[in-house]
Amino acid sequence: MTKGALLYEGKGKKLFLTEDEHLLISEFKDDLTAFNAEKRGNEAGKGALNCKISTQLFHLLEKHGIKTHLVKTLDDTHQLVKKVSIIPIEVVVRNIATGSLSKRLGIKDGTVLPFTLVEFYYKDDTLGDPLLNDEHCLMLSLVKSESDLEELKRLGREINSIMKSFFAERKLKLVDFKVEFGADKEGNILLADEISPDSCRFWDIDTNEKLDKDRFRQGLGDVKIAYEEVLKRILNH
Ligand code: TMP
Ligand code: ASP
Repeated sequence: MTKGALLYEGKGKKLFLTEDEHLLISEFKDDLTAFNAEKRGNEAGKGALNCKISTQLFHLLEKHGIKTHLVKTLDDTHQLVKKVSIIPIEVVVRNIATGSLSKRLGIKDGTVLPFTLVEFYYKDDTLGDPLLNDEHCLMLSLVKSESDLEELKRLGREINSIMKSFFAERKLKLVDFKVEFGADKEGNILLADEISPDSCRFWDIDTNEKLDKDRFRQGLGDVKIAYEEVLKRILNH
């Protein structure tokens, strides 16, 4: 499969056309952004780490029956993926309060939530990815029906329960994460984008050390070392 024209460039990845109209090549970039790209950086090797981590997690989820866009990994930074039409909703799933949830609702950072919280955010950088309720999603026609929203919530919770126990065995707390879904040509909803320390929060189970993009967001340093540690724990269990 060869890389054709650039179809789309996001903050963490580039998507290229291929000779097969139903397949794309996804390239993981070394760039890091935070706070709607007001803060920018670059960590050599970050793209390769995220590509490996995301591949492992997508295989784990596939094994548990979650359908994803991943076809195969091509090399250190490239995946072959099914072309999907992305649903412009960022599905955020939270187990522990931190980040924007603590800020918006005044819940103390680190509070274990009484149940898994699923939130929707509008995937629109110019609007700053605002929080959406179900009626906003329907009013903006981001999905076809209420049952699609229920399906997104169900998938978010299912992915959470698979990953939460997987990481607990590896001495990491899965604090929260963001996932994106797309529809394939038959209209099936597939997990798309990536799952990596750019899109999840991982805290060490014993020390609460942050091993995710908060190291960059909060200027804590050692971003790459933290991502390497996450990959190591995924592989060397
Ligand atoms: P938040 O606390 O900033 O709302 O983030 C919740 C989770 O979603 C966290 O794991 C980081 C992830 N996330 C993204 O992957 N992309 C984004 O643009 C935002 C705002 C959050
Ligand atoms: N990914 C978002 C950005 O690049 C925000 C974040 O993850 O903190 O602006």
